[in-house]
Amino acid sequence: MLNPFVAELSEDHFQIEVVLDALERELAPTLPIPEPFLSQAIQFLHEFGDEYHHFKEEEVFFPFLASQGVRVEAGPIARMLGDHAELRRLLAGIVDLLPLLRKQEQRTARALRQLVSRYVRLLRNHIEEEESMQYELSQSLLNEDTGLMLSDIVGRRVANRVSAARLAELRSFAAACQQHVELDECYSLAKV
Ligand SMILES: [Fe+2]
Ligand SMILES: [Fe+2]
Repeated sequence: MLNPFVAELSEDHFQIEVVLDALERELAPTLPIPEPFLSQAIQFLHEFGDEYHHFKEEEVFFPFLASQGVRVEAGPIARMLGDHAELRRLLAGIVDLLPLLRKQEQRTARALRQLVSRYVRLLRNHIEEEESMQYELSQSLLNEDTGLMLSDIVGRRVANRVSAARLAELRSFAAACQQHVELDECYSLAKV
């Protein structure tokens, strides 16, 4: 049985990836940048991806691994923490450019696409590496009991950061992105 805490992290990863897919598709260079969607997707990545998901890893998961003797100053966990910092930096750069987008400058649109594409690439690679790390750990350090304990700690600590109602809204944004991608795939199949 998949460890409940690992399953929770993987479910978060899936929802984040769905939004990354939609973001990449909507920001195709041949199309005008859809500003309302971009703002919502960036808000999702900030609140769900960073404030909620990275918080779970940084404040609960990685400290637990450290308590079990896993090194955090070097190796995969140090790399994961470095990625989180770089992702925050890129997201802040994207947020800074958003108000300029309304002026419809080509230069801003190009800079924005570059930053978004770096962000998407880094986060996808990051998730891939975390998924394999989690899988390996779930074979050794993470049994069902520790998984339940970590889920319980996360449930209590996360409630102070993101409300259940807000989480439900963010998840439904990811579901809408997924549905849109699936619909689009149906249309492109129908065109063949
Ligand atoms: Fe992470
Ligand atoms: Fe993660």
